[in-house]
Amino acid sequence: MIDNLNKAYESFKEEISDLAVMPDVLNLKSTYLGKKGKISEILKSLKDATPEQRKEIGPVANKIKNDIQDIIAKKLSEIELKEINEKLAKNKIDITYTDSLKASNQKHGGLHPRTLIRQEIEDIFLSMGFEVLDGPHIETEYYNFEALNIPGDHPARDMQDTFWFKDEKSEEGNKHLLRTHTSTIQVRGMQSRKPPFRFIAPGTVFRCERTDASHEMVFQQLEGMMVGKDISVANLIYFMRQTLKEIFKKDVKVRLRPGYFPFVEPGFELDIECQVCKGKGCSVCKQVGWVELLPCGMVHPNVLRAGGIDPDEYNGFAFGLGLDRLVMMKYGIEDIRHLQSGDLRFNSQFKEY
Ligand code: DAH
Repeated sequence: MIDNLNKAYESFKEEISDLAVMPDVLNLKSTYLGKKGKISEILKSLKDATPEQRKEIGPVANKIKNDIQDIIAKKLSEIELKEINEKLAKNKIDITYTDSLKASNQKHGGLHPRTLIRQEIEDIFLSMGFEVLDGPHIETEYYNFEALNIPGDHPARDMQDTFWFKDEKSEEGNKHLLRTHTSTIQVRGMQSRKPPFRFIAPGTVFRCERTDASHEMVFQQLEGMMVGKDISVANLIYFMRQTLKEIFKKDVKVRLRPGYFPFVEPGFELDIECQVCKGKGCSVCKQVGWVELLPCGMVHPNVLRAGGIDPDEYNGFAFGLGLDRLVMMKYGIEDIRHLQSGDLRFNSQFKEY
């Protein structure tokens, strides 16, 4: 009988070594240890054995049963561990930041070149003691034209093709429009402060005109104004030169021409050498090699009066920087329409923060 038990034990060990899944192991367990299992069957003949034989067989049979149970328990836990590892390998979740939270194709945003330049210019003017002001996009005829010395019948109104709102007359007797320039903030700014003061006002402006490489219907300007006692054209030129030097980080060629704007007297056009073609002539500068960048002048007495300032006591200068043109000059952009295009191939080239 001991022989039979040992044989059964050996065959059990052989059979279990081939098994890989839990149900098979549990089946094998009942094949050997179950009520009608192989070991029980062998032990049935124990009733025919002598007491001496029983004494001998008993411990052997118990040991074999225990060993089989141990082997089965060990096998089951091995299989369980293997299954867990396989599951983990299949549903791999990496909770470290670099590999999982940061998706591999995630793109970083950046600031639009207009924003970069606007922030840079604001910093330059802030360091020269200027305030930064804002104003409404929807303006009245008064602030956009009349207060700036452009009455209703003035031919200068035709210089700026305007988007008018449909309202006939608003309550103040003013028609509404989308501001055609940031000069609207000149009078608003003067009305709410006492001289001496200096401020800039960057913002979007709107013109109803045909677009081309250097014209957009929606674009950006940056207005500037300084009012005080005994301010001269020399002050104006100094501030303009200083600003351009800081922006371009080098001396750029400029030229000053007389220019006509109803709100300044005398008025000037400050041109810079076209930085896209370096003065050779291209579509941006309309082949002349120069770009109108900074119209400016000494504030007209009527404009000071509209702002509540006595022109016999105070004077000042004003300028209107074409921000988009400046962006184009600084980065060598050949078509203004790229700025508004929303094209990521364009935008993603400016990734400074
Ligand atoms: N507002 C003018 C325009 O959009 C630009 C301008 C010219 C602004 C002369 C000024 C200035 O402040 O002095 O065409």
